[in-house]
Amino acid sequence: MTDTILITGATDGIGLATAERLAQSGLRLILHGRSAAKLDQVGAALRDRCPTADIQTVRADFADLTEVAAMAETLRGKMPRLDVLINNAGVYRAPITETRHGLDLRFVVNTFAPYLLTQQLRPLFTTTTRIVNLSSAAQASVDPAALHGHIKLSDGSAYAQSKLALTMWTCATPAEPTAPMMVAVNPGSMLGSKMVQDNFGVAGGDIAIGADILCRAALSDEFADAAGKYYDNDRRAFGPPHADARDPAKCRALVTTLDQILAEQHLIE
Ligand SMILES: NC(=O)c1ccc[n+]([C@@H]2O[C@H](COP(=O)([O-])OP(=O)(O)OC[C@H]3O[C@@H](n4cnc5c(N)ncnc54)[C@H](OP(=O)(O)O)[C@@H]3O)[C@@H](O)[C@H]2O)c1
Repeated sequence: MTDTILITGATDGIGLATAERLAQSGLRLILHGRSAAKLDQVGAALRDRCPTADIQTVRADFADLTEVAAMAETLRGKMPRLDVLINNAGVYRAPITETRHGLDLRFVVNTFAPYLLTQQLRPLFTTTTRIVNLSSAAQASVDPAALHGHIKLSDGSAYAQSKLALTMWTCATPAEPTAPMMVAVNPGSMLGSKMVQDNFGVAGGDIAIGADILCRAALSDEFADAAGKYYDNDRRAFGPPHADARDPAKCRALVTTLDQILAEQHLIE
């Protein structure tokens, strides 16, 4: 059976470059995006370029976790299994940073959405499934008050805290032979996507550097035993994440808080 790969945030930047590369390998690709128009355009362009590729699309705005849950339900109804999930969608800055449920948008899109999506896609995972979580060199200790949406953070702080939270969840998930392999990957710093160009005013590096490491994390043998690890593509090596992600008690506490907040929002039991 052909491998099925879901890439979130596949409508731009590193996610799109990864999708373009994987479409050429004859895999079945599911592209996620938040804009129906952008998703249609990207899907059509990829099908044009790779006529033999099986390319499907799914839409959800990750700023609204009810849309994330609905997306997972749609996918569970559509396919028997998922071989690779690349949790790539991410945001640095937004005009309004508080969601309608009172949470910080950066935590919602960068941490809660991939956490919830992964939980809710669990019935599709096999022992060989791989989950690749997009981390960053920007990682800062998570303030529980900020995670609850009780205090406002600067763009840089919210982004760095949301990326460490995602990394801590990855590191907190035990490596088990019967569980999917989940790894956190910093794709490389200041790669020239719209996130970098719009927020830092620089052209940035080659996005292909990020697409290359995501394809390897998804498919290559070098990531077969990467469960719970952090790959730092700035160093081109596995390496230590922020100290908090190396503290099992802190990681477990963070995951408990994520669950509490999702339960308060009636998104999990
Ligand atoms: N570029 C770097 O140097 C760098 C470094 C470290 C980590 N990263 C991480 O790499 C990932 C990809 O980033 P990028 O640099 O390629 O940025 P990008 O070009 O801005 O792409 C981000 C993707 O996420 C999607 N997205 C944003 N907000 C969303 C929402 N509310 N709901 C659903 N999808 C949403 C975007 O959709 P639209 O197309 O609709 O905007 C786009 O497809 C992110 O997780 C980022 O944090 C990037």
